[in-house]
Amino acid sequence: MIRFLKSWFAGSEALDEESLLSRVRSGPIPRHVAIIMDGNGRWAKKRGLPRVAGHREGMKTVREIARAADELGIEVLTLYSFSTENWKRPREEVDYLMKLPEEFLRTELDELVRRNVQVRMIGDETQLPAHTLSAIRRFQEATRDNSGLILNFALNYGSRDEILRAVRQIVEEVQSGKVDKDAIDEAVMNRCLYTAGLPDPDLVIRTSGEIRVSNFMLWQMAYSELWFTDISWPDFRRNHFFQAIEDYQHRSRRFGAV
Ligand code: FPP
Repeated sequence: MIRFLKSWFAGSEALDEESLLSRVRSGPIPRHVAIIMDGNGRWAKKRGLPRVAGHREGMKTVREIARAADELGIEVLTLYSFSTENWKRPREEVDYLMKLPEEFLRTELDELVRRNVQVRMIGDETQLPAHTLSAIRRFQEATRDNSGLILNFALNYGSRDEILRAVRQIVEEVQSGKVDKDAIDEAVMNRCLYTAGLPDPDLVIRTSGEIRVSNFMLWQMAYSELWFTDISWPDFRRNHFFQAIEDYQHRSRRFGAV
């Protein structure tokens, strides 16, 4: 009886996900979804595990959500993986996080190539350990010509840092005569950000209950729709992702107009 109920329940969950997915497919798909993946540490603590176990579990969610984004035909999925402030964490946690791109490369590269995914990174590369940067480079080289989903890791990324760099670059361009001061507009700024060439995020998701944006894409999210959930990143499943997109599809985006 219990076995029957369990399989019936699993079957009805699958049906729910299928109908959610078909509803989502019939609505406008956001071009760019950006996610603040939060709650790995708390997920681990609740289970009496070290924080890094939460990051390990969080990697599985990265795989699941990247697949889901690809299935929906989303153009860009940006994942906030390490902020410019995260260096303040304990050394062993930072070391662990810096090893994740290599691990991801080892386990995911074949599938990402098969799926025509292009892997990119935004953030300050100069402070990354050589082994981390080399994994990123190998990803970039192996997927450079792919034309499907752009899987964009924000690594050593801070929005204020990004904006300051852009300002410095613009000042240089003005001083060298490449740009006229009065011609500085949003397009010039966009060209000087790490996200140059990418559409602004239509939807920004944050997991694990915090209602803040934590120095993430401040310029780019001027008109993004925001979606928050209490679910921690390791527990975030594709149906939660579809739910966020369905909610997004019911928002009325006016970009300041009526
Ligand atoms: C925030 O949770 C999460 C992070 C700082 C790291 C997230 C990184 C991944 C899930 C893997 C990224 C994968 C690649 C390939 C780079 P937290 O530790 O702040 O959680 P807490 O708020 O509960 O402490």
